[in-house]
Amino acid sequence: TSPVTTQTLAKMAAKGERIAMLTAYDFPTARALDDAGIDVLLVGDSLAMVVQGHDTTLPVTLDQMIYHAEMVGRAARRALVVVDLPFPEGQLDLDRTLAAGARILKETRCRAVKLEGGSEQAHRIEALVTAGIPVMAHVGLRPQNIHIDGGYRVQRDADRLIADAQAAADAGAFSVLIECVPSDIAAQITAAVQVPTIGIGAGGDVDGQVLVTNDLIGFTSGYMPRFVKQYSDVRGQIVSAVQAYSKEVKSGAYPGPEHQF
Ligand code: KIV
Ligand code: NA
Repeated sequence: TSPVTTQTLAKMAAKGERIAMLTAYDFPTARALDDAGIDVLLVGDSLAMVVQGHDTTLPVTLDQMIYHAEMVGRAARRALVVVDLPFPEGQLDLDRTLAAGARILKETRCRAVKLEGGSEQAHRIEALVTAGIPVMAHVGLRPQNIHIDGGYRVQRDADRLIADAQAAADAGAFSVLIECVPSDIAAQITAAVQVPTIGIGAGGDVDGQVLVTNDLIGFTSGYMPRFVKQYSDVRGQIVSAVQAYSKEVKSGAYPGPEHQF
C-alpha cells in the first residue's frame, strides 16, 4: 500500500470515497491507527488538553508539538501525518509561521500543517504553500480563539463559513477541516469548495471525518461533546487490568513460575 498524499485525498473525495482521520500523539498509538488503515493522522494541539492536562489548546509549544510529531512521523507507514501549528505560530509574523511550518517538515517525518482560520489567514496559507508546506485549513469552531469566543460553541454564520472555506481553498489549502457547524451548512461548504472537507461535529455531508482518538476509544475523562461516538472503553480496560495486577502482586499470584528465571 502506497503512502497517502494530499493528492490521494483529492482523488478519494472525487470518487466519493470518505476519508477517515484521527488524532495521534505518540508512537504506539500512531502505529496501531496506521495498521488499522486510517488515512490521515493529526498531531493535534488538542494534545495540550488530552495529553498534557491543560484546560485549553493554547499552552502547548512548538517544541512540544515537534517532539510528538517526531514520534507519530516515525510510526506512520501509510497515513498522511498533519501537524497543528500551535498558538501563536499561526498568528504572529508571517516569517514566524513559515519558520514553524518549515521546522515541522524538516525535523519530523510529517508532511503537512494545519492552521486555524479562513479569509483572514488566506495570505498565510498562500505563503506556506508557496514555500512547499501543504496546509489543511481549519474553519468553524477554532479552539485557539476560545478567549475571544468565550466558549466552545456551534458556529452558524453560513455566509462567513463558506467565504472562509473558499478563501482557504483559493489560497491553496489542500483540504478544509470544519469544526462544530450545522450539517446543512457543512454540506453547503463542501459543495462550494473544490478541495476535500473533513468534519468534526459537522454532520455526514462532508468528504471525511476526524475525531480525537482518546474520545473514540474511551480514554479521556470529563465532558464529551455530542458528536463523539465512543467505540471502546480503554480507560475501563486499563483500570481493570491494573486492579488485577495490583491484587496479584499483593496476593503473590504474580509472578508465577512461568514468569521467573
Ligand atoms: O487538535 C485537534 O485535535 C483538532 C481537532 C479538530 C481534531 O484540531
Ligand atoms: Na487543533
